[in-house]
Amino acid sequence: MVITAKQEALVVSSWNEMKDDAPAFALKFFLRLFEIIPSAAKRFSFLRDSTLPLEKNPKLKAHAMSVFVMTCEAATQLRKTGRVNLGANTSVPHLASVHFKAGVADVHFEVLKFALLETIKEAVPYMWSEELKEAWSESYDHLVAAIKSEM
Ligand code: HEM
Repeated sequence: MVITAKQEALVVSSWNEMKDDAPAFALKFFLRLFEIIPSAAKRFSFLRDSTLPLEKNPKLKAHAMSVFVMTCEAATQLRKTGRVNLGANTSVPHLASVHFKAGVADVHFEVLKFALLETIKEAVPYMWSEELKEAWSESYDHLVAAIKSEM
């Protein structure tokens, strides 16, 4: 198994703590990505074409939530089947193609991971530990590796 039962439990229990405010947390880690790499925002068609402030853009919030939820779900899938399964509404090749066409690069995935972990640390400081960080990292790394392998 690529993820242990304890790691899955850590991801799921911390997600349960954060889920009521998950859209706000998800938006926060995307805004952090844009602070570190401002040009990353230009990858999104709906940000290029919009006059709304970033934090008010519903499509950005939706994308941020996808990343958060899919990373969490990846922990359970990895535990159950040893691989990432994106469910009925999308697929790894589709996501790989969308990200490839949009010019998303390794550095974007790397910085997003850093921002995700930083946000989780701030969201659940009382649960934060090296193990919790590792558990979310493993889950994110496998999800991204699956997408990148098809890009
Ligand atoms: C689109 C998930 C990371 C940029 C999407 C979509 C999903 C998704 C579900 C919608 C696909 C569709 O249109 O059917 C994820 C996941 C990620 C991730 C799970 C990491 C685990 C990133 C990163 C960037 C990024 C790091 C960097 C900037 C984009 C862009 C689009 C997109 C530009 C197309 C949006 C548009 O213009 O319509 N992503 N994403 N994604 N993602 Fe990501």
